[in-house]
Amino acid sequence: MTIGKLIDGKGFAAGLRVQLTDHIIDFVAKTGRKPGLAVVLVGEDPASAVYVRSKGKMTVEVGMESFEFRRPASISQDELLELIEELNGDPRVDGILVQLPLPKHLDEQAVIAAIDPAKDVDGFHVINSGRLAVGLPALVPCTPLGCLMLLKDELGDLSGLEAVVVGRSNIVGKPMAQLLLGESCTVTIAHSRTRDLASVVHRADIVVAAVGRPEMIKGEWIKPGAVVIDVGINRVAAEEEGKTKIVGDVATAEAISHVRAITPVPGGVGPMTIAVLLRNTLVAACVRAG
Ligand code: GUN
Repeated sequence: MTIGKLIDGKGFAAGLRVQLTDHIIDFVAKTGRKPGLAVVLVGEDPASAVYVRSKGKMTVEVGMESFEFRRPASISQDELLELIEELNGDPRVDGILVQLPLPKHLDEQAVIAAIDPAKDVDGFHVINSGRLAVGLPALVPCTPLGCLMLLKDELGDLSGLEAVVVGRSNIVGKPMAQLLLGESCTVTIAHSRTRDLASVVHRADIVVAAVGRPEMIKGEWIKPGAVVIDVGINRVAAEEEGKTKIVGDVATAEAISHVRAITPVPGGVGPMTIAVLLRNTLVAACVRAG
């Protein structure tokens, strides 16, 4: 039995941040200012607070300016839109990220639409998703772009490969499919209503799992030699009573003997998301600086 490789997303992301640091030094030398990232956090969701803190810390570490805006869950739609307008007009701010999900009374799509597309470092604005879809330069969602970097690092040219993306979210599944199509893969988007998911997944040379269901994709579904990218971050009960642990969307322990390579959870895709966010902020800063 051969054992597949674990893809070191954590290490790859650290390397990416080192490269960014050099580019940021050049940017500062040329423009006399640091690129700036504004992160907006609404409410008290503990997981979101952890992500935001980590984003802020890494933003500063690579040499950029971090602006954090915490607002209570009770903020009105108009107040939030006003804050975004302010950030759109702030010359120190190159990137704006509104941490999702937002409290239910807020209209997420309207909030995203209010962000200047040139500062939309999440790549969620319809201008950016439309540009990605037609193959124009765009700010591309961080998680799928991070997944693509890992895939290209592992496989080189992806042209002609069979790719199955499990999950159809605007944040991961749909932009991931667009990126793979851009690399000339044959792309299938599967989801919770897909019939016989096992045989759909079994066709794939590349599997990207982003369904948000703990270990739903079983090892025996994976075609021998496939590369598997596991985007899932699911908190489940651990073996030890009262403890929890994080698992992905793929049953990694089973899959490892089928795959050529697979991303672990944690330490796979997760660290890539923030590294790409920082990269997108630098890209936005360079475009704005002309
Ligand atoms: N919540 C979960 N993932 C993301 C992301 O990539 N960007 C934002 N803004 N919120 C998220």
